[in-house]
Amino acid sequence: MTDDKTKRLSVYLPEKVKVDLERMADETGLSMTQLIVMATHGLLANYGAMGSSIFADLLSAKQRMSQAMEQQRKLLDQDKQTLQDYYGARADEYERIYKREDPDYQQGLTMLAQAMTNVVRGQRVLEVACGTGYWTQFAAEVADHITGVDIRPEVLQIAKAKPWPANKVALCVGDAYRLEQVEGEFECGVANFWFSHVPKNRIDEFLEGFHHRLGAGASVFMADNVYVPGRGGELIRKDDSEDTYKRRELADGSQHEIIKNYYSFEELHDIFKPYVKHLNIFVGSSFWYVSYKLE
Ligand SMILES: C[S@@+](CC[C@H](N)C(=O)[O-])C[C@H]1O[C@@H](n2cnc3c(N)ncnc32)[C@H](O)[C@@H]1O
Repeated sequence: MTDDKTKRLSVYLPEKVKVDLERMADETGLSMTQLIVMATHGLLANYGAMGSSIFADLLSAKQRMSQAMEQQRKLLDQDKQTLQDYYGARADEYERIYKREDPDYQQGLTMLAQAMTNVVRGQRVLEVACGTGYWTQFAAEVADHITGVDIRPEVLQIAKAKPWPANKVALCVGDAYRLEQVEGEFECGVANFWFSHVPKNRIDEFLEGFHHRLGAGASVFMADNVYVPGRGGELIRKDDSEDTYKRRELADGSQHEIIKNYYSFEELHDIFKPYVKHLNIFVGSSFWYVSYKLE
């Protein structure tokens, strides 16, 4: 009869560990089995010297990892709150950015408005993070209907005070990461100057939620800033973050540090290509836009 304790063990290895082992095998010239055996010998030697406390150490490493993930989530929530507070405080002065006296910049804005109206013409549109409704105005001229959502009531209040064509526009509070809560049927999505505020590790979450809310075959238009050194405050990088930030000061003197990511043509291509067909990317001197159709 086989003794249960000496029966051959089959070891399940998570994919990441397999990849690490393969790399170590390449580097050392040892086989993966030899490496596993050596690791086991190492563990047993430690067990001999320190007893069962080594398992406590391994378990607490796992706990430390989940604490680190929790910490990361808290930092993301803080970023999200800071961003929302900033736009709440900035509501009254927000549209000043669109009045910049720079012919190249103004030309860029006109080009964006044209590119967007080509996409939204005759469509029922969901506009994410619509803010004070600056882009909603152009879209409303040609769309069949447009629903603008934004997390901050202060900016929506300004948007609502604009003269809208009758029965064409709905403006409501909504979270870009919870678009399933927005009422309506849509065949087109717009998100202007929002994508730069999405933390890189939430891009998939945002895009999947947005696309799911729009449905197959929908058209999408998104635009944002190209990085221009010296424009829009100092660019900040942080050791513990893959995102970049901007330091901004409002008219009341308050200082804010908000997440603001910039993308090259290649990065935009890599982000959007897996989701779409007919991807169109434009990167100019002040702005970029992407437009595409969902599979
Ligand atoms: C740079 S502004 C863009 C406003 C408008 N789309 C435009 O281009 O003029 C970013 C907007 O995102 C909004 N926002 C921030 N966090 C949000 C969230 N989680 N869901 C929806 N809107 C959000 C802010 O209130 C702000 O109005």
